[in-house]
Amino acid sequence: MRAEILAASPDAVVRAAALLRAGQVVGLPTETVYGLAGNALDPDAVARIFSVKERPTFDPLIVHVAPLGIGLQPLAEAGLIDLGAIDLATRDLAERLLARFWPGPLTVVLPRGPRVPDLVTSGLPGVALRMPAHPVAQALIREAGVPLAAPSANRFGRISPTTALHVQSELGERIALILDGGACAVGVESTVLALDAGRATLLRPGGVPRAELEVVAGFTLGAAPPPGAASASPGMLASHYAPRKPMHLLDQALARGLHSGTFAGALPATIGVLAQEGDAQAHARALEQALGCRVRVEVLSPTGALDEAARRLFAAMRALDASDAEVLFAEPVRATLGLGPAIADRLRRACVR
Ligand code: TXA
Ligand code: MG
Repeated sequence: MRAEILAASPDAVVRAAALLRAGQVVGLPTETVYGLAGNALDPDAVARIFSVKERPTFDPLIVHVAPLGIGLQPLAEAGLIDLGAIDLATRDLAERLLARFWPGPLTVVLPRGPRVPDLVTSGLPGVALRMPAHPVAQALIREAGVPLAAPSANRFGRISPTTALHVQSELGERIALILDGGACAVGVESTVLALDAGRATLLRPGGVPRAELEVVAGFTLGAAPPPGAASASPGMLASHYAPRKPMHLLDQALARGLHSGTFAGALPATIGVLAQEGDAQAHARALEQALGCRVRVEVLSPTGALDEAARRLFAAMRALDASDAEVLFAEPVRATLGLGPAIADRLRRACVR
């Protein structure tokens, strides 16, 4: 089997929805990254997602819903959340966040409802919910008539896919169909927020910047517990998004060292550098002169624009991974605002320690 990539026409959406209703899984475009989608209410389909991805079942899945009316009430009616288990302050906070950021790259964790299979939440009391903004994702959820569980469509621990071709190269031998909705506009996964007792905890930085959430919440978001802590989001593993080749995160000093030739002679014949900004050719020439080895450079954004950097991040990592470079280096992200923290988080987890 080799997954067929279908441009997301209405006919293609109908075909994909039929596969989903039959318990199969398909590649799904969203505005953040491509997902591997299955019927969230069907435990067998959910089990198939875990096995296709080789994902450990302690790492729960996000349930994707189509626009179905305002706020929490429709989610409760669909059996996805338990309104009775949500206090008023949390409900008010959730309603305000969803009104502002749905559809879009925000995932909220709320007490799960009776129709959510155990496997979706890995047995946790909360379910992660997101309403994607991508029109193809919305169309497919509507046509399938069920919410879709969808992790990023990469093999476990690998680089997330931002095009249909990336999905084919990750999972092409294991699934039948990938809907092609173009390159993802955001490029990093959704921000994951746990909502409880009127508070919000940032479990994963992502497509909605922290500052925008805090304006709506009216308070500072709680920090996620460290990976491994009992209350940590189980999927937030220290190693993730990783290329096959070793990639090292440069701190500011090491980045300067690389550019000034400190490591000349200590490097393999060809290295790859993931640069935050500037001109790739100019970077490569300067580094080759300083280091005396061949240097392949991918630039995230020539002008240093964070939105563009996020959009290009995973594709740039893939390109370096596929190049002849033997070892990869990533320059640090300086920005602490906007999508800077989401990019820094992905780079940290992608790099060997
Ligand atoms: O942008 C996205 O969120 C993409 C697209 C496809 O929608 N999906 C995605 O899914 O990134 P995934 O499975 O790669 O990451 C989901 C993460 C989990 O690893 C976990 O950290 C958190 O969301 N999560 C999911 N369900 C949870 C739950 N019930 N409680 C706490 N954290 C949860
Ligand atoms: Mg993922």
